[in-house]
Amino acid sequence: MADGGKVSMSEMSRHAAFDPARSEAVTGPGQSSRDDRQANCDPTGNPVSLDNARRPIGVVRDVAGGTTIVVFDPERLHECLSDADPAIAMSGQVSSQIKIRVGNTWLLGVVRTLRQATTAEEHGGVVAEVDFMGEGDTERLTGNIYGFRRGVTRYPMPGALAHVATRADLAQIYASDGRPNISIGTVHPTKDIRAGIYIDSFLGKHFALLGSTGTGKSTSASLILHRICELAPQGHIVMIDPHGEYISAFRDRGNLLDVSNLQMPYWLMNFEEHCEVFLTSSGSDRVVDADILARCLQQSRAKNRLAAAIGKITVDSPIPYLLSDLVNILQNEMGKLDKGTGSIPYQRIKTKIEEIRGDPRYQFMFSGMLVADCMTDFLAQVFRLPANGKPISIIDVSGVPSEITSTVVAVLSRLVFDFAVWARDEETRPILLVCEEAHRYVPNERNADGSSVGRVLSRIAKEGRKYGVSLGLITQRPSDLAEGVLSQCGTIIAMRLNNERDQAHVRAAMPEGARGFMDAIPALRNRECVVCGEGVSIPMRVSFDDLDAALRPASDDPSFAAQWSKSGGEDAMIERTLQRWRAQSR
Ligand SMILES: Nc1ncnc2c1ncn2[C@@H]1O[C@H](COP(=O)(O)OP(=O)(O)O)[C@@H](O)[C@H]1O
Ligand SMILES: [Mg+2]
Repeated sequence: MADGGKVSMSEMSRHAAFDPARSEAVTGPGQSSRDDRQANCDPTGNPVSLDNARRPIGVVRDVAGGTTIVVFDPERLHECLSDADPAIAMSGQVSSQIKIRVGNTWLLGVVRTLRQATTAEEHGGVVAEVDFMGEGDTERLTGNIYGFRRGVTRYPMPGALAHVATRADLAQIYASDGRPNISIGTVHPTKDIRAGIYIDSFLGKHFALLGSTGTGKSTSASLILHRICELAPQGHIVMIDPHGEYISAFRDRGNLLDVSNLQMPYWLMNFEEHCEVFLTSSGSDRVVDADILARCLQQSRAKNRLAAAIGKITVDSPIPYLLSDLVNILQNEMGKLDKGTGSIPYQRIKTKIEEIRGDPRYQFMFSGMLVADCMTDFLAQVFRLPANGKPISIIDVSGVPSEITSTVVAVLSRLVFDFAVWARDEETRPILLVCEEAHRYVPNERNADGSSVGRVLSRIAKEGRKYGVSLGLITQRPSDLAEGVLSQCGTIIAMRLNNERDQAHVRAAMPEGARGFMDAIPALRNRECVVCGEGVSIPMRVSFDDLDAALRPASDDPSFAAQWSKSGGEDAMIERTLQRWRAQSR
């Protein structure tokens, strides 16, 4: 005990749990015990897997509802370390899995914490907190787990023996139960057990993909969406792409939209969105302006013959109107007033509308060509109804003037939601809305600017499920997301998070049993993640598959070393850039 914390075997076996005789009794005759250990070594003296798989590595000490304390035999852990089976070699480490015998069933647990024994009672072992994930039956011949299921019906008694979970066990545990699923990578620490996500549960309850910059979020998002498209060629996915990085990843499979071809009619905006674009004032002036805009907007919409057919319309009804009508109505209303300060609000709104109409950057939305009632075509094309072999729309909003980007995202998101609400009685066609840089659009209170996009996305997070709208949020700053949004996500895919605040937020949103995996998050490598929640049978650590270069998003990391070591064609490059800059189009 005193010699640097090392424990001698004899000391260890003084305790009943590590006593050879007892171990023999529990594991059954013919299985190894300490005394015949030599017989289970390969010619070089290394213990073989079978041996490590059969001999216990520790004993249950305390049992509580959630967490159990298991004391590992450090010598056994050391023996397992060199095992050829990667699952066995990892035994006893934080976030490794172990199994515990309870009658005829195996309980599967995940190691959450480890510490060196401090009390005599713990006999110099390694003391682990273990969370239970589920249980399975024992396969007669091999002793492996089979028929694994989530949840625990019988807890172990103190004194129960802990064993390693082998690759064969993990293969059983992570085997698909036959529901439709996509395979995204391999289960850590194995190199070959496929990690699958059950698509109905995954999309049914929203998902979040989190990770610091450079950990591979965008590439993983592409990978997941590509796999979904393969599984569901008639799908309906809308991806909001703030940096235009996904265009290159979905050339073949995506309906690619940006400011050059989006053609989103301004009259699709509801009143709140109109205010964000047309009103420039604040405080009490804004209240006055909003009032005027509401009145005039309604009159403009009412001029459409669609309105006559429908009868009652509101400022929010997506009925086409002419911007020139709106300006004229503002002008007329202003004319009815006595000259003086009363006309200032009208003038303010008019000026802003005229400014936008004349600005080429706003043409994708405010062009005179967009007055016709093209709502059917617009929705069909954006929501992929029908998909026509391209089940995903990539909407690159990088060219949208920054003042209205959030409004454009709000309109698109709200259209997804409203469409789903009004299509409730139709045969349901669920739509998946994926949002990159989600913290920009659904920010927490500290960063909130009160814009409509946050409200619409929060609403989808809360109510979308009922109407068949699924939300996929991607962000590197989970702590900047609005309160509660993360906990609405049924499945969380967490890549490495370097920031402690972010880690804490994700931890709070993860289910209790996933804590052991959670602690691995700061130490994940690039392209690795922890998946937990509805989409998977039990939490797992996954190494993502390598994604084909043609299917990857455009990475925006320039190589300084490479670019700064070559020269040539600068004049033409500046010329081209200036041209785009002046024309304000790419
Ligand atoms: N599954 C993968 N297959 C191939 N390359 C990947 C994979 N995941 C990440 N990468 C590479 O890692 C780099 C960073 O990935 P990226 O998705 O841009 O990270 P993030 O979006 O988190 O900043 C990119 O150069 C990308 O090509
Ligand atoms: Mg990215």
